Amino acid sequence: MPEKLKPDWAGEDWLSRSVNLLIQTKPIYKVMKHQARQVLIRTAEKKGIPWRQNYQDLERSGAKELLDQITNPQVVYPDYYQVPFHAYDRGNLCWEAAFEAGSATYSMALRVWPQENLTSEAAQERLRSSFHQILGKYSPPVVSDVLDLGCSVGISTVALHRYYSQRQDSPVQTVGLDLSPYMLAVAKICDRLGEISRWIHAQAEDTGLENNSFDIVTLQFSIHELPRPATKSIFQEALRILRPGGVIAIVDNNPASPVIQNLPPALFVLMKSTEPWSDDYYTFNVEACLQEVGFEYQTTVASDPRHRTIVGRKP
Ligand SMILES: C[S@@+](CC[C@H](N)C(=O)[O-])C[C@H]1O[C@@H](n2cnc3c(N)ncnc32)[C@H](O)[C@@H]1O
Repeated sequence: MPEKLKPDWAGEDWLSRSVNLLIQTKPIYKVMKHQARQVLIRTAEKKGIPWRQNYQDLERSGAKELLDQITNPQVVYPDYYQVPFHAYDRGNLCWEAAFEAGSATYSMALRVWPQENLTSEAAQERLRSSFHQILGKYSPPVVSDVLDLGCSVGISTVALHRYYSQRQDSPVQTVGLDLSPYMLAVAKICDRLGEISRWIHAQAEDTGLENNSFDIVTLQFSIHELPRPATKSIFQEALRILRPGGVIAIVDNNPASPVIQNLPPALFVLMKSTEPWSDDYYTFNVEACLQEVGFEYQTTVASDPRHRTIVGRKP
């Protein structure tokens, strides 16, 4: 039987259209949004992630005082970024999203191996290392400059930095870039050891970084949140700033994975109701797009039961 490439709840199938209709019905969306939040927090706390405590700690952490310093006043927010997202009316442009992103990231890793009773730290470590192992196989032998696009609160960035720092003797400079200054302020506070060289507030489509200045660019769990034209522009920008032989690596939900295809209806409805670009992502030929913009396609690997890693190389 040929492999199914996408779930029925995404794209043009009747199931997908029915879900979309449901979501577009405003009062229903409001209730779902509220429920999604409650389920997320309750489940996380049951599994040992102190969601509300983390929030309070971050409120007192000094992150808010960093906002002005980290905000780049020249940044223009695209329309797609200014819609309600993840149950937040202001999407990623608010403290609520930034103070909850870390807990949500740990919860996400726990959902990958539900049967294995992992701690949230162990699940996070396994999630990252499954990606790093694949990326490592395609990386140049010596890596000096690494960029994590859509770095959020920096969990992916710090893990990536440590991976390359441990892999080689020579130093690695790692940069995290995000469009939300709130996320970046939290990232900066959480980077207690100052391992990351710079936290940059910019559009990943228009980073302002120099041509040919990075060996590795990653997009970790970011492109399922983007409309396709934005992803394509980001790939073009990554091609520009990578050195020849440099690598782009994308890890994200795997539309072909049985876990994703068989998500319970309550979950895929909640997911689609809080992530407006789902249909775009789950029906997107990412590999073809990488090639279209000029990357040499290297591989796609199911890096864990829910996610796939895609690697491209700049010629
Ligand atoms: C799900 S989070 C990424 C998680 C993080 N990379 C990790 O693996 O833990 C997606 C992030 O992408 C950022 N983002 C979305 N569109 C962006 C854009 N056009 N440019 C830069 N960052 C963007 C959001 O602000 C958000 O912080």
